[in-house]
Amino acid sequence: MDAIKVLIAFYSRNGSTEALAKAIAEGAQAEGAEVVLRRAREIVSHEVMQKAEGWVENAERMNAQYEAPTPEDAESADAIIFGTPTRFGNVSSELKAYIDSLGGLWFQGKLVGKAGSVFTSTSTVHGGNESTLISMYHPMAHLGMVIVPLGYADPALFKAGTPYGASSVSGQNNTPPNEDDLAVARFQGKRVAQIARALKAVGETATQQ
Ligand SMILES: Cc1cc2nc3c(=O)[nH]c(=O)nc-3n(C[C@H](O)[C@H](O)[C@H](O)COP(=O)(O)O)c2cc1C
Repeated sequence: MDAIKVLIAFYSRNGSTEALAKAIAEGAQAEGAEVVLRRAREIVSHEVMQKAEGWVENAERMNAQYEAPTPEDAESADAIIFGTPTRFGNVSSELKAYIDSLGGLWFQGKLVGKAGSVFTSTSTVHGGNESTLISMYHPMAHLGMVIVPLGYADPALFKAGTPYGASSVSGQNNTPPNEDDLAVARFQGKRVAQIARALKAVGETATQQ
């Protein structure tokens, strides 16, 4: 069987969600998966971005490193992991714009049966991490994806993260994810790669019959 392809499509303004994305990539790669990291682009003007300290600089740095996600990236992946900073307890508009661009694939049923999973970063402990994660389950259900939660399937979940997906708390000073947060993220990458591999094997067996 070919290597499992995992698309990690995230938005990040200050780097916390990006750091989780990189740890998820490590976990998936350690399982032998081929990982594609993509950053959703801003949908507001440069003028608006300049009003928040560091936004323009951070976006330029990350955009030089990660291409924007496309529907083709989603179609060619065996698993898609969406990551977003919390925005009022919900998904960011930047990542949602990418998810909405998948409408053509939804119409053709192209994402049905692919593994899907989610992660987020908030600034406060109870600032809506779980509601944000669950908000991304909704489009994944419409797309027919097989949603992969984390449960408490690894000891790392008893220290950090959520059963719905990896998370981190950045506080008032953009504190990066700590080692416990990153351990959950690595486990998420590993688990999604394992489940995507199992789903692909079932699909290939069904086609051979
Ligand atoms: C418009 C806006 C809304 C936000 N809403 C929330 C929120 O509801 N709860 C929360 O804890 N943090 C909220 N935040 C803070 C970010 O989610 C938090 O700083 C996150 O760690 C940023 O991730 P990043 O470093 O990947 O950009 C909000 C930030 C902005 C700009």
